[in-house]
Order: sequence, then structure tokens, then C-alpha cells
Amino acid sequence: MKTLTLNHLEKVQQTKIEMIDFYDGATNDYAFWSKDLNMHFGYFIPFKNSPFARNTMLNEMNNQVLKRLNITKEKSNLIDLGCGVGGTMRYALKKHNNLTAFGVTLSSFQVFK
Ligand SMILES: C[S@@+](CC[C@H](N)C(=O)[O-])C[C@H]1O[C@@H](n2cnc3c(N)ncnc32)[C@H](O)[C@@H]1O
Repeated sequence: MKTLTLNHLEKVQQTKIEMIDFYDGATNDYAFWSKDLNMHFGYFIPFKNSPFARNTMLNEMNNQVLKRLNITKEKSNLIDLGCGVGGTMRYALKKHNNLTAFGVTLSSFQVFK
């Protein structure tokens, strides 16, 4: 059997390439999953929302994130590290017009989506 040993930096680079490929490929699937471009699975609160109305759970996750940020009325910057197509940032911008949002993603496909 032939084996190939990658040094650590090559492995890191290879993993990065695989992740970018994954997110480039999976992004359109998520667009089918969530019309608001959320790339998470939502937040379930019994008797408040329902897995059968997925959008209610997806938006509740965004609500929960924003609630924990304690956003004031002052001008503020929001940075989303691992933003996907920006579902959570878009939601935040609709709720708070004093925000400027910046997103970081590995996938340039997501940036231009
Ligand atoms: C499952 S998606 C979630 C997107 C978004 N937070 C949401 O909930 O809709 C994960 C995101 O993290 C990004 N990501 C993963 N590892 C990263 C890294 N090391 N640097 C920058 N972005 C990264 C991916 O490109 C992708 O956009």
C-alpha cells in the first residue's frame, strides 16, 4: 500500500481547500433550505415555534443571537465571523438601522451570492 504523508501546513491548506469547496457547493442547497439565506438549523422553543414551520425556527435563532448582543441605539459595528451568505447579518440590519455589518467567510462564492 502506498501512503502519502502531508506536513502540517500542507494539511491545513488542504483542509481549507476542502472547506471552501464544501461551502461553495453547499450554499445553493442552503438557499433551498432557507429563503432568507440562513445556514443554521434554527432555535426551537416548544409551543412558540415549530420544526414544521422552519422559518419560525430560523428567525428565532437570529433573534436569540441579537438578544445576547445587547445592541443599543448608538451607531455600532456588527462583525459576523463565519457569515455564510449573511442571513443573520441581513436579519440584524432589518431590526436595527443603526448597525453597519461586516461578514467573514472562506467562500468567495458566498460573497457574490
Ligand atoms: C454553516 S455556515 C454558517 C453561516 C452563518 N453563520 C449562518 O448561520 O447562516 C459556516 C460559515 O463559516 C465560514 N467559515 C468556516 N471556517 C472559517 C474560517 N476559518 N474563516 C472564515 N470563515 C470560515 C464558512 O465559509 C461559512 O460561511
